[in-house]
Amino acid sequence: MDKMWAGRFNKALNKEADDFNSSIHFDSRMYKQDITGSMVHAMMLSNQGIITKDEYADILKGLSSILEDLENGELSFDMEAEDIHMFVESELTKRIGDNGKKLHTARSRNDQVALDIRLYLREECDQIGGLLLKLIEVIRDKAKDNQNVIMPGYTHLQRAQPITFAHHLLAYAMMFCRDFDRIKDAVERMNYCPIGSCALAGTTYNTDRAFEAERLGFNGIMMNSIDGVSDRDFCIELMSCFATIMMHLSRFSEEIILWSSWEFKFVELDDSFTTGSSIMPQKKNPDMAELVRGKTGRVYGNLMALLTTLKGLPLAYNKDMQEDKEAIFDSIDTVKKCLSIFAPMIATMNVLKGNMYSAAQKGFINATDLADYLVKKGMPFRTAYKHVGTLVGYCIENGTVLEEVPIEKYKEYSELFDSDLYNEISLETCVAKRISAGSTGYESVKQQIEYITEFLKK
Ligand code: ARG
Repeated sequence: MDKMWAGRFNKALNKEADDFNSSIHFDSRMYKQDITGSMVHAMMLSNQGIITKDEYADILKGLSSILEDLENGELSFDMEAEDIHMFVESELTKRIGDNGKKLHTARSRNDQVALDIRLYLREECDQIGGLLLKLIEVIRDKAKDNQNVIMPGYTHLQRAQPITFAHHLLAYAMMFCRDFDRIKDAVERMNYCPIGSCALAGTTYNTDRAFEAERLGFNGIMMNSIDGVSDRDFCIELMSCFATIMMHLSRFSEEIILWSSWEFKFVELDDSFTTGSSIMPQKKNPDMAELVRGKTGRVYGNLMALLTTLKGLPLAYNKDMQEDKEAIFDSIDTVKKCLSIFAPMIATMNVLKGNMYSAAQKGFINATDLADYLVKKGMPFRTAYKHVGTLVGYCIENGTVLEEVPIEKYKEYSELFDSDLYNEISLETCVAKRISAGSTGYESVKQQIEYITEFLKK
C-alpha cells in the first residue's frame, strides 16, 4: 500500500522498517476514540465553514459505517496500515472518495494521538474506578463480618498488640479509597483537549477548539499547542496511580499468602481461587495472590520505561512517544485483571477465627496494656514499661504467660498490681478499651465501616 506521505520519497519503505514503525497492532484498540474524535473534528470544520455541510455529511456517514463494520466484524484492521489514524482515514477515503481526504484539515496525527489516548484513558479509568469500588465494598463486607474476630497485630512481623481482623482489613479499604481518589484527580488534570494543536504550532484555519473540547467532554482546551502534542505527563501520573494500586494489592497478596501457610493458617482461600501441585498431593497454593504480587513488577516496570523514554526528548512530537501505548495498555490490562480476581478471592476467603485467636494468645501482645494498667494507677510509663519487660522475661523463663502469673508474684514487682489486672489484660479488654479515634476498638471500627459506606455512596 502506498503511504499517505509517499509524495516526497523515491523509494518505498523497507519491509522490516515498515513493520518496526507500525503501531496498528496495539493502537487499533483506540479505534472508537479515533473515530469519535474525527466525527467531532469534521463537525467543527463544517461549523466553521472550512468544509461544506455536504462534505461533513459524507464524512460522518463514512465514519459511522466504519465504526459499525468494525464493531460487527465486517471490517478488520489492515495490519499494513501505519497506525489506527492512518487506517481510519484511508478506509474513509476508500468508502467516500475525495471528501475523505478533507478530514485531516487543521489536524495532525500528533494532536490526534494525544486526543485519542486521553479519550481512551478516561474510559479505562472509569472502569478501573468501578473495579476499585467493588473491591472496597467486598473488603467492607468482610470487615463487617469480622468485627469481633481478634488476631495479633504485627510490627516487624513480630506479634505486637491485639487487633480485630476487621480493623486490619479496613486499613486496605482506606488505601484503595485513596487509590480511587488519586485516579479521579489525575483524570481531572488530564481532561484538557489537545486537538487543534495540530503538528505543534497550531493552524492558519479559523478553527474552534473550545467547541471540540466541549463536545468531547473535556474541561477545556490545552492552552499551549506545543505542550498539547509533546506531553505525556498524564500517562506517567496514571501509571504511577496504577503502580500504587498494584503495590497495595501486592502487600495484601503477601499477607494472604502468609496467612494461608500452615505456619499461620489464619485464612483458607476458596478452592476456586487456588491450585494444586503436580507432584505434592497435599498442596493448595495461593497462585492468584502470588501472580498479583508478581505482576506488580511489570506495572512498576512500565512506569519506569515510559519515564525513561520521555526524559531526553526535545519538544515537540518524537516517534519515541509511540512507546507510551504498549506500556500504559499493559498496565491497564494488568490492573484490571488483578482487581477483578482480587474481589471474589477476598469475598470467598474463609476466616479461621480460632487460629487467629490462639495466635493472639501467644507472644505477650497484651504487655503494653499491662504497662498502661500501672500507668493508670499512677506509675510513670517508663517505669511501668520496665516492670512489665522484666515480667515478660520471667514468663519466658518459666514457660508461662502474663494471664497465668499469680497475683502474689505480680506484687513482688509492684504493690500497684491487683487482681483486676487479669480483666485488664484479657484480649477482649485490650481491644474494647482502645477508645482513640481510628483505633482497633469496636466503636472506632464501626465508624470506619460507616466511612467506607459513605465513600461508596459518592
Ligand atoms: N502512531 C503514532 C504514535 O502512536 C501516531 C503519531 C504519529 N505522528 C507522526 N508525526 N509520525 O505516536
